[in-house]
Amino acid sequence: MCGIVAYLGSREAYPILIKGLHRLEYRGYDSAGVAVINEAGDLNIYKAVGKVANLEQVAAGHDCSGTIGIAHTRWATHGVPNEANAHPHLSQSGELTMVHNGIIENASPLRNQLKEKGFTFRSDTDTEVLLQLIEYTQKKHGVDLVCAVRSSLKKVIGAYAIAVIDRKDPGTLVAARKGSPLAVGLGEANCEFFLASDASPLAGYTNKVVYINDEEVVELRRGEEPAITNLNADKVDVRAKEIDIDVNMLDKGGFPHFMLKEIFDQPAVLRDCMRGRLLPSHHRIILSAVTEHREELIHARRFIMVSCGTSWHAALIGKQLIEQFCRIPVEVAYASEFRYSDPVVGPGDVVFALSQSGETADTLSAIQLASERGAMVFGIVNAVGSSIARASDTGTYIHVGPEIGVASTKAFTGQTTVLTMLALAIGWEKGTVSESLYLEALEALEQIPDQIARILEKDDEIKALAQEYVDKRHFLYLGRGMNYPVALEGALKLKEISYIHAEGYPAAEMKHGPIALVDEDMPVVFLATHHNLYEKIISNMQEVVSRKGKVLAIVSEGDTVVKGIAQHVIEVPHTPNYLCPLVSVIPLQLLAYHIAVAKGLNVDQPRNLAKSVTVE
Ligand code: F6R
Repeated sequence: MCGIVAYLGSREAYPILIKGLHRLEYRGYDSAGVAVINEAGDLNIYKAVGKVANLEQVAAGHDCSGTIGIAHTRWATHGVPNEANAHPHLSQSGELTMVHNGIIENASPLRNQLKEKGFTFRSDTDTEVLLQLIEYTQKKHGVDLVCAVRSSLKKVIGAYAIAVIDRKDPGTLVAARKGSPLAVGLGEANCEFFLASDASPLAGYTNKVVYINDEEVVELRRGEEPAITNLNADKVDVRAKEIDIDVNMLDKGGFPHFMLKEIFDQPAVLRDCMRGRLLPSHHRIILSAVTEHREELIHARRFIMVSCGTSWHAALIGKQLIEQFCRIPVEVAYASEFRYSDPVVGPGDVVFALSQSGETADTLSAIQLASERGAMVFGIVNAVGSSIARASDTGTYIHVGPEIGVASTKAFTGQTTVLTMLALAIGWEKGTVSESLYLEALEALEQIPDQIARILEKDDEIKALAQEYVDKRHFLYLGRGMNYPVALEGALKLKEISYIHAEGYPAAEMKHGPIALVDEDMPVVFLATHHNLYEKIISNMQEVVSRKGKVLAIVSEGDTVVKGIAQHVIEVPHTPNYLCPLVSVIPLQLLAYHIAVAKGLNVDQPRNLAKSVTVE
């Protein structure tokens, strides 16, 4: 997830690019950069680590003039966030410069091929590889920029939205997309162009937008109408749309809150998380950390998972997945407890650190201690280049893009997705998962983003339901097996943004105490999807109903039994047991969100909380 902006017209490009970057900063903010070609034909590039404000400081006082330029705000995927890896990148000759959002999966072999042809690289990025390929093609075949872009894109596997300019031809901007969004705003007489990852940077300049489709290349030439072609150079119609952009909602991609946007991001970002790793057509899951550390992982004495909050809930799911598929014992510890418990940990143990931010102080200290005692540390982190990622011996990024709402949503499903792939990949190497189960799991996991999208269609239904619960003071969330951590997560979501007291329990524990709380004023949320403990959950539900408790149940599509018992049900698609958290958590995220909104609370920045907990 990165943001790209570009401009070609008669105005000064730099202020437009900077304003656009600010509006796209929600897409990533670990580094930023801008490139502008001035009247004399000089190409000036400025870059800075961190937010766009840092870039403005770096560029201040330097020549930023010119009416053509490209800019980028980065959420690192290949290469740590530093200046060399920040975009725009520069080609070998110094003539072409490019920004990119996406991941080029075959960057490594392409890089080697280009090295053999004499190319050198200034960064660790996949973007620079694509740019050098474009330059190589341009020079070798003596073709213009748009031809070189088309032919290079035919050689890459992966996702991209790119914008590239040529110092020798400051009247042309070429852009293309596959899998990553790209919009072109048409200004004066359709001959002034604003290009961006979403329409927000266009607001205030134009409301006429052309959305570029996958495998389309757009050539923008000064004073001419835009020309769009596919990768075979066939002409494509330019489909301009009039859009209405509310400037106040810009950074949230049109959603009223980051949290809702991030809940709705889940189908797309989970596809990103699995891209290039889950390969059902090849019958494989490929995680480089598993390939590189195969022996340590399959022969591990035990795994220990350390984390906090929502990440700890994901770890509880990971324990069940790994024990089922790999038959390796897994302990789950609160990082804050682990670090002070003089833990019995050492060589032969693998300690997994789960963290969205990668900066949580307790988790970082826990892995430093584990490392000192000789354990291997495996990071499962979202923020690339973060402290936990750097302190880990190896790891797998979850790649769900920046999570800005304080209540974690897409990071939880991203962690759960990575843990599922990890358990299957290790189990396969270890020989503890059968081929039929492995193949079934690959296919089922691939369906998850579409299944989540179907649940999100119930948003209005859940919003209406939320109104009935706004005045409640306490909630119980109950689930069993794989749904027990989901009950904990549902309760945490509700309490942190709505300030309603909520407790999650394994459903069977209820009769050992919490049932005393149940009366007609106590909503009880049951995770009752059609899985192996279903009948037992029904009995627990009957116990609540007979004490006048109000039941809201998450059930599998087509369930008729629970409908006869619960006051309300929300249906989710069928999945195998080991994948049910990925669907059953979605209605709970939406329920918590809508209750908090109905109470008029600050959903994205709830009181007393911070996105990254860097203190003990
Ligand atoms: C809850 C939430 C927190 C975090 C916890 C760990 O919605 O966001 O509970 O999960 O602070 O943070 P990370 O995952 O960044 O280590």
